[in-house]
Amino acid sequence: MKRPLYLAAFVAITIAVQADATHTNAPATSPRYTQQAEHDPNGSGRFYMGREIAQVMGHQAADWLERPEREREERPDLLVPALRLQPGDAVADIGAGTGYYTRRLAKAVGRAGCPRPAARTNADNGAQGVTRPTWQPSEAGVVYAVEIQPEMLDILTNKLAGEKIFNVKPVLGTSTDPKLPPAAVDLILMVDVYHEFDHPFEMVQAMVAALKPGGRIVFVEFRGEDPSVPIKIVHKMTEVQVRKEMSGQPLEWVETIATLPQQHIIVFRKQRQAERRPAMRGGAGTEPPSLFALRRPANFRP
Ligand SMILES: C[S@@+](CC[C@H](N)C(=O)[O-])C[C@H]1O[C@@H](n2cnc3c(N)ncnc32)[C@H](O)[C@@H]1O
Repeated sequence: MKRPLYLAAFVAITIAVQADATHTNAPATSPRYTQQAEHDPNGSGRFYMGREIAQVMGHQAADWLERPEREREERPDLLVPALRLQPGDAVADIGAGTGYYTRRLAKAVGRAGCPRPAARTNADNGAQGVTRPTWQPSEAGVVYAVEIQPEMLDILTNKLAGEKIFNVKPVLGTSTDPKLPPAAVDLILMVDVYHEFDHPFEMVQAMVAALKPGGRIVFVEFRGEDPSVPIKIVHKMTEVQVRKEMSGQPLEWVETIATLPQQHIIVFRKQRQAERRPAMRGGAGTEPPSLFALRRPANFRP
């Protein structure tokens, strides 16, 4: 698609669709967030740490997530290897949409595309030339595909079935809680998602709780620093802004990977408990001191 058309399509999609308000279970008002009457037409009017939160992309635009141009524009063939996943890893794809990245992650953490091992039959027993699986389904890594729109999960599930991918667990989350098991995930990926969380602080807190010690959380966002990236401003993020918003969370920045044509890959790691610093005080979006900080003895040295 030529650039002007591509732009027009994206604008139309983002203006036309909004997430259902019932997807949140958090109080409507919080001092972390402010509502402003004057705002970007593509934004929600809701602000967090100086950034306007974008409108959620609705399921009506699901086809846009499967457009063939994504291969060239986003280079998933570069993104997935950059995550350095291992077979057997547990990964969460938050805001999974139609599963465009979920399917690629499932293959990366699974075994040879993760077909289920064939059931043994009597004919197999002792038969020559039968290749038996060398692994069990439980050994394959898992991908939690988290969405707040059930319609997206329906599309995602059908596509998984079509590709015979079995190591994905679809999860219906809320705007504040991805509903992941605690300390269970090696890596959390958000591609083009974080900027539209209406409760980014609460979401990150809950995602950190789902990470294993030392687990990683990865933001893939269109580069806000680069005016040549043809995406509306509220749908892009700068690295500075992402790092600012994570500064009150128990995360440490690891690296920013700049190999993709239009997006940056910003990687954080969950701090081990002994490394956690007391959070900054005051100001919207800052975290209260962690329980660990409150409880630790005065002479504590990490
Ligand atoms: C622009 S789409 C990106 C989908 C997918 N990551 C991709 O790149 O193909 C953003 C998705 O994030 C979802 N989303 C927004 N807020 C969410 C939240 N708090 N938890 C889970 N999903 C969320 C939306 O429903 C939407 O499907």
